[in-house]
Amino acid sequence: MSETRIHVKASREYDVVIGTGLISRAGSLMKEAVPKATKILIVSETNVAPLYLDTVRESLTGEGFECVEYVFEAGEQSKNIDTVAGMWGVMAKAGFTRTDAAVALGGGVTGDMAGFAAATFLRGIQVVQIPTSLLAQVDASVGGKTGIDLPEGKNQVGAFHQPSMVIEDIECLGTLSEDKFTEGLGEVLKYAFIMDTELYGMLSEYMAEGKAANLQHDREMLIRTVTKCVEDKVDVITGDEFDTGRRQILNFGHTIGHVIERNSGFTKDHGVCVAMGMGIMTGRSLAAGLMDQDTHDKIISLIKGYGLPVTDDITPEDAVSGAMNDKKKRGNTISLILVNRIGEAEIVPMTPEQMLEFLTRG
Ligand SMILES: NC(=O)c1ccc[n+]([C@@H]2O[C@H](COP(=O)([O-])OP(=O)(O)OC[C@H]3O[C@@H](n4cnc5c(N)ncnc54)[C@H](O)[C@@H]3O)[C@@H](O)[C@H]2O)c1
Ligand SMILES: [Zn+2]
Repeated sequence: MSETRIHVKASREYDVVIGTGLISRAGSLMKEAVPKATKILIVSETNVAPLYLDTVRESLTGEGFECVEYVFEAGEQSKNIDTVAGMWGVMAKAGFTRTDAAVALGGGVTGDMAGFAAATFLRGIQVVQIPTSLLAQVDASVGGKTGIDLPEGKNQVGAFHQPSMVIEDIECLGTLSEDKFTEGLGEVLKYAFIMDTELYGMLSEYMAEGKAANLQHDREMLIRTVTKCVEDKVDVITGDEFDTGRRQILNFGHTIGHVIERNSGFTKDHGVCVAMGMGIMTGRSLAAGLMDQDTHDKIISLIKGYGLPVTDDITPEDAVSGAMNDKKKRGNTISLILVNRIGEAEIVPMTPEQMLEFLTRG
């Protein structure tokens, strides 16, 4: 048992606790995070609940919390208002008051919905995130974005609602499918490229030692890696909590990645599409003379080395028209994130014509 803490100074201050054996200490961590709560709603889903819900419940009841549960069908298709309404109903029936709290136990889908249910129930109760997927540990659980999908598009309804604590138990990553783990690495590599030369160095050295394929079961390396990613995310969101400025650099690979993801009817995983987006942008930056060959080669080889693709057959025209429909677009310009050197990202607003030129010239 060990733990690292990262303190987040947002509109609510909280700790991200990273380590092993934390799930079984959820109760005492919750006592610290939400000391006034007596009732806790544990939100989980059908894949994660059989693995971890008993441990979390036992730990919480052991500390005197009264627990109610809401377990929904795993998967993005559940990320809708009906599922959130189910959570509201359970809390209302159990007589929750504003000092009670919710816990999200699962991947990003669980975290987004439990966070949104907490943001809206009684106009806001506290939520503690226990992310169990790599993507949720390095990205979704930190930063306070919560929400649901509409038939018209992903994440169309939501709220900013910071958690009261994020509990990241690295051991949970051991039960993820290999595909889901690899997908999460897309976001991990993103932090290395946009802002973290130290993380880049760690991951490239690890790859050079021939260990990349073992990362999922190397707890020590995972703790170091996840910790670096969370520190990076916290660094970016501090000062730009509501996503109007620097936070946009987290979109490296995402503008084109989102289009690939949507055009596949969401059959391709998000992190895999982000990897393709980063690969394509890297190739285009080289062609435009904005990146040197060595940087290009290093980025491409790290993405491939961790089992992710670097390209897709999307046409530049489709990429531009898809990007024009992105919800993150502001006005008529598309903010592309360019990495010029490893660890340095730049936000470059482009018109559709400029983006098309960037994707085709050279
Ligand atoms: N709020 C944010 O800032 C933010 C950021 C990025 C992504 N997201 C959202 O997060 C979601 C994607 O997150 P995700 O990839 O974690 O999706 P997810 O919650 O669907 O989890 C992915 C899969 O892994 C399974 N799983 C999770 N943890 C497991 C474990 N420990 N062992 C075994 N199986 C496990 C799940 O059941 C699911 O099948 C999307 O809805 C996305 O919009 C939100
Ligand atoms: Zn992403």
